[in-house]
Amino acid sequence: MRARTLVPTLEAFLESEEAAPSSEPPDWVHVLTGLARAGTRIARVVARTGLTGTLPRTGDRNVHGEAATRIDKYAHNAIVEEVADAEMLCSIISEEAEDLMPLPSGHPDGGCILAVDPLDGSSNLGVNVPVGTIFSLLPHSPSDDATGAGLTLSDILRPGRDQIAAGYILYGAATTLVYTSGRGVHGFIRDPESGEFLLNRRDIRVPSPSARHYSTNEAYTRRWDPRQHELVRHFKKPPPGGAKGFSARYIGSLVADIHRTLLVGGLFMYPAFRGKPEGKLRLMYEAAPMALIMEQAGGRATNGTEDILDIRPRDIHQRTPLFAGTRELVDLAASFLGHGERRRA
Ligand code: AHG
Ligand code: MN
Ligand code: MN
Repeated sequence: MRARTLVPTLEAFLESEEAAPSSEPPDWVHVLTGLARAGTRIARVVARTGLTGTLPRTGDRNVHGEAATRIDKYAHNAIVEEVADAEMLCSIISEEAEDLMPLPSGHPDGGCILAVDPLDGSSNLGVNVPVGTIFSLLPHSPSDDATGAGLTLSDILRPGRDQIAAGYILYGAATTLVYTSGRGVHGFIRDPESGEFLLNRRDIRVPSPSARHYSTNEAYTRRWDPRQHELVRHFKKPPPGGAKGFSARYIGSLVADIHRTLLVGGLFMYPAFRGKPEGKLRLMYEAAPMALIMEQAGGRATNGTEDILDIRPRDIHQRTPLFAGTRELVDLAASFLGHGERRRA
């Protein structure tokens, strides 16, 4: 009989892998475990969508003028509650809040900011499509004011390269948490029996498969730049002698599209186009955390002219085009779009 190996829980993994020998795990670990607790609460509510009246929309609009569902607000509140005790945090940036949210007075300034999209893709919930939470932890530049109350925008608008940790929670057939702290990418699945997130994939690498996917909303073709047209035309050309051609996959739910791209390879694209000069996705809590995940897994992410992780935000809710996935495909996209390796003939 084969001996059963014990699968580490998220907490056990963080303790053994993220702490230096014989020392305490770093403080961001408490934020991550808080996010996992919030994810458990959000997953439960997501699973009951349709039964509990979390849809239809409330009629409220979030800071981007988009209809916010009650479940987006629930997810935001669950996250704020579950991370509020983490001493390293001083404030939160959320898709659901117009301004930087300082933590209640009396909370120490731990020098760190959580940027979060509490529930991305919630418009998909009405048809039972996976949605997700995206998170990014950033240090803020030292401020004169030890309480953090004196934080200015320039203290917090840090490029993605500075992230301490980043990742996402996917509410799909299984609730899955993927994170990186800059030392590889690890994936955990929540066991509904025990309620624990259990290690499922250690050190995930984005594959370079022979059957490749491109992933984009092609309904916007009419508004694309000619270079974007040319890139997608390239994917549709008959492949040279015997090679497998491209296939398309697009869910329209970022966390699900990125998770597939991370596990099976391919190229995810949300480009700029006429009417959306910066694309749709938000830099600080959508593109930058996904870019750190991709780079740490051996892939790449660019806005077409600059690596996402090098962009210094001008605004907490800034948008950016995003091309992410298998490194050679992102290189190819960048070469068509005018950045990176010189375009092959
Ligand atoms: P939101 O943040 O409003 O929930 O938007 C979802 C996002 C993201 O999940 C997905 O990648 C993108 O919207 C899809 O947008 P299109 O419908 O324009 O393709
Ligand atoms: Mn959202
Ligand atoms: Mn979103």
